[in-house]
Amino acid sequence: MTREFPYAHAPRLPEGDVIDLAQLFTPALPLRPEESLELEIGPGRGWFIFERLEAAPAVRMLGLEIRRKWATIVDDRLRTRGFASRARVFAEDARLALPRFPDASLSVVYVHFPDPWWKKRHQKRLVLGAGLLDQLARVLIPEGKLLIQTDVEERAAAYEALVSAHPAFAPATGTTPRIDDHAYVARSPRERRAMEDGLPIHRLHYRRLSRSSSALPASGEAP
Ligand SMILES: C[S@@+](CC[C@H](N)C(=O)[O-])C[C@H]1O[C@@H](n2cnc3c(N)ncnc32)[C@H](O)[C@@H]1O
Repeated sequence: MTREFPYAHAPRLPEGDVIDLAQLFTPALPLRPEESLELEIGPGRGWFIFERLEAAPAVRMLGLEIRRKWATIVDDRLRTRGFASRARVFAEDARLALPRFPDASLSVVYVHFPDPWWKKRHQKRLVLGAGLLDQLARVLIPEGKLLIQTDVEERAAAYEALVSAHPAFAPATGTTPRIDDHAYVARSPRERRAMEDGLPIHRLHYRRLSRSSSALPASGEAP
């Protein structure tokens, strides 16, 4: 007797070169003018998404979580708690899924405590690298925000060097992307644990510059 692959039916994004994001929700309605769409990369147990939905009634959320188990559990929980019209989590590698998102479709992207590995041999598993960042520049709306949090200072320094050198991003406010706290109200599981344990959290907050003020080519243009 063969044992079924656990979470074989994890929620996956539909096929196609460009995903119609409105179709992911139930009912499949386009965003209303007052609504905005936010993305969390690697939501894990998903608490941030639930808290964000409660705190911001005009926000819809998507999550891309590489672990089938957590994508399934969180997406099921969203549905049973009545959030299917506003939030979904898919079992996807964000690095492969984001290129299929439409241009300028997201108002905020959150990357909370990614990349807990810091040994050299783990380098290729890093989620937040140059390729993903180019995609974030493409899918964020002008003045859209990118929040990155980590408890590894070495990682924060590397992310800061990477994002600050990108022509499409600037600190969300002032001259440094480093912030003591954010105003999104919700907390990710790891963020909450670090706060309870009194551990430092390194936070970087960027805005996506308007297309005219950045040197980044629009989608379809030659690099
Ligand atoms: C250290 S955990 C942090 C979980 C959660 N963001 C938090 O702050 O509590 C990193 C999460 O990112 C997910 N992850 C890692 N690489 C990913 C990728 N390429 N695409 C999507 N999710 C990924 C992991 O499965 C894990 O859930």
